[in-house]
Amino acid sequence: MTHSSSTDFGAESDGSASRFGVDLATTKPGTPGGIFMRQFWVAVARSKDIETGRAKPLRIMSEDFTIYRGAGGAIHIVDAHCPHRFALMHLGWVEGDDIRCVYHGWKFDGSGQCVEQPAEEPGFARKVKIKTVPARENIGLVYAYFGEGEPPAFPPFPTRATPGIMDIWNAEPMPCNYLQSFENSMDEVHVAFTHSPGGSHAPLAVDLPLVTAEETDWGMLRLGKRRNGIDRVSLHYAPNVTRVIVPPRAGLDVKGWREIYFHFTPIDDENHLWLIAGHTEGTPEDIADYKAKQAAYDKLVAAAPPAMAVARDLMNGIGVYADTRHPDLAVIQDIATQAGQGRVVRRDGERLGRSDIAIIHWRRILAREFQAIARGKPRKHWAVAGEDIVPTLGF
Ligand code: FES
Ligand SMILES: [Fe+2]
Repeated sequence: MTHSSSTDFGAESDGSASRFGVDLATTKPGTPGGIFMRQFWVAVARSKDIETGRAKPLRIMSEDFTIYRGAGGAIHIVDAHCPHRFALMHLGWVEGDDIRCVYHGWKFDGSGQCVEQPAEEPGFARKVKIKTVPARENIGLVYAYFGEGEPPAFPPFPTRATPGIMDIWNAEPMPCNYLQSFENSMDEVHVAFTHSPGGSHAPLAVDLPLVTAEETDWGMLRLGKRRNGIDRVSLHYAPNVTRVIVPPRAGLDVKGWREIYFHFTPIDDENHLWLIAGHTEGTPEDIADYKAKQAAYDKLVAAAPPAMAVARDLMNGIGVYADTRHPDLAVIQDIATQAGQGRVVRRDGERLGRSDIAIIHWRRILAREFQAIARGKPRKHWAVAGEDIVPTLGF
């Protein structure tokens, strides 16, 4: 692992967007943020939500696509609209590994090549292609590469290979910019307050950590130092993944804590997806126990009001935050605090302090890279992290 120098930040650092003269939040195509994000594989869906033979619309980083799983099992991502007269492709039919447009029957193969045009002259089809985006699957998620040229190495980061189970949480569409949630995942102090009602994070609230962060060749490593001298190590893989050890959710306690891979993927500048994979370590018996608890937990969640609806009520002053109880309480707490900052938080007006160092550090990395993109200067070459760099709990 190589580390670049880490910078000292005083309480006066504000890390605001205007300070750097770049928009840190946007990922629209053609913007520095959009070009930056499109250098990486990004998670776009849960594998189990993309059924064989069915196409769905997919909006990522303010662009619209169609996603489908062909008969061979491979995921395909193509333009949202047919190149003929722009009908929506997801209305059409998946045929084997091809997709046929509902409007006039043009059919495209998995490479995007038009292979049939029922009402056209022979020879026209080979001149027509639909835009495609490379897609791969790992740990129960679909990843896509939206950039130019060859995609980087896949998978984009290492995951734990010890015995256990990797499962995927419910996908939440969050009504705010992705960077708010990515920044929240760097914010260890919030845990002691945001998640104190309900008590699932109580062990982390015993003593507030002193946070430090350092840039690495794959992203940023964050340390939370507590009085007992044990550091909690969390990893932030560029551009939008946090790998961390978290306490079990209430009712889902198994031996040990779980390792979580949070993906915060922009839908557009004001919405993003939470795609969360969790690795639970254990023997086959532990995992059977975990699965039974998960099934019971899923029933409780299904019977409760949707987390998003409860969070919206709290943001609108309906109900009392501290008194709210729900099987997905931590999720509600996170939605209400992060989406409640506004669709795109006003970073110019914040008052950042010592505890925000990891956030400030990441913003400076983004600003540096965005400026390099805007000015056509050389950018950082991002690497895939080594298997040996893992998060730790340390409380
Ligand atoms: S718009 Fe798709 S075939 Fe005509
Ligand atoms: Fe949280």
